Amino acid sequence: MKAVRIHQFGPTEEVLQYEEVPTPTAGPGELLVKVEAASLNRADLSLRKGTYRVDPKDLPMIPGREFAGTVVTVGAEVSGFKPGQRVVAHPAKGGYAEYAVTKASLARPVPSGVDAAVAAAIPTVFLTAWFALIEDGKIQSGDQVLVQAGGSGVGTAAIQIAKHLGARVITTAGTDEKCQRLLALGADGAVNYSAKDFRQEVKRLTAGRGVDIVLEMIGGEVYHRSLEVLAPGGRLVSIGGAAGPIPDPPPTLTGGRKATRFSITNYLNAHPEAFKQLDFFLDMVRQKKFQVVIDRAFPLAETRAAQRYLEGRSHFGKIVLTM
Ligand SMILES: NC(=O)c1ccc[n+]([C@@H]2O[C@H](COP(=O)([O-])OP(=O)(O)OC[C@H]3O[C@@H](n4cnc5c(N)ncnc54)[C@H](OP(=O)(O)O)[C@@H]3O)[C@@H](O)[C@H]2O)c1
Repeated sequence: MKAVRIHQFGPTEEVLQYEEVPTPTAGPGELLVKVEAASLNRADLSLRKGTYRVDPKDLPMIPGREFAGTVVTVGAEVSGFKPGQRVVAHPAKGGYAEYAVTKASLARPVPSGVDAAVAAAIPTVFLTAWFALIEDGKIQSGDQVLVQAGGSGVGTAAIQIAKHLGARVITTAGTDEKCQRLLALGADGAVNYSAKDFRQEVKRLTAGRGVDIVLEMIGGEVYHRSLEVLAPGGRLVSIGGAAGPIPDPPPTLTGGRKATRFSITNYLNAHPEAFKQLDFFLDMVRQKKFQVVIDRAFPLAETRAAQRYLEGRSHFGKIVLTM
């Protein structure tokens, strides 16, 4: 089969090698899936550079946290899946390929009416946004929520989830065009942080009070400025630092405010049953109550261009590979 592999870590997408590799086989507890689409995530860039959870001794490896397709073979000791069934899987690697293996416990059936590219784009961003807002954010109906980087994959999911849970949502993005699209997606306010100081805008939009929750994923100065817009009792949930470091441990705050760090990988390792929350998102998407925003699809052979596009930050929502 054709796949994209990394043989050594590196700063540019040139380390991604599109090549012929042996088709994997499903062991006990596993499924072999004919991949139709895989989605890209910001973490794929860190993985390629060697700064994300992969040991050099595990190279060469096939990246691709999540994918959707059709079950080809079902390994021993698996129940509930059969060949020909459409599934989405989130095994953390292997998706940049024509065929991939996943633990059956990390796969869910895809309802008819939801296409493979859409399904492949759901797990990481919707699960992260959902559990970060609920577990650390303690989100309640009526809360005011600031979603940083609203045009990111996680941001587009978080805005819809927070609205669904009854919150009022303010978000940020780097261009007016992205802000317009975020308002169309359901945000109540959108701030172009390149043109205006988001702290003043958030204060203006909340009549000086600030927000109950910040979902923060930029890091560095943005992290520290985000603390300034927390209302008394507010929670800052940090999920990433594309632009700079994140204080570790999180700082101690006054006025009942709290800052935490959230990782969906750690959360699912500790609560494996939480993965089934994916069924809810798939059903909401089937009913067209949640929208999976896909910016562009690239063929597998053009994975380098896809990662370059992701790194360039002009995208809005998700980028997928199709096989
Ligand atoms: N903790 C977890 O479990 C978890 C899970 C998934 C993702 N994440 C993190 O959440 C963040 C979003 O992930 P994603 O895959 O949804 O990202 P993405 O689609 O690649 O979007 C990232 C967006 O962040 C904005 N941004 C602002 N400053 C940036 C900078 N200096 N460098 C890069 N981007 C910057 C950009 O939009 P503008 O140019 O419009 O600002 C960019 O489009 C990442 O930090 C990722 O690592 C964490």
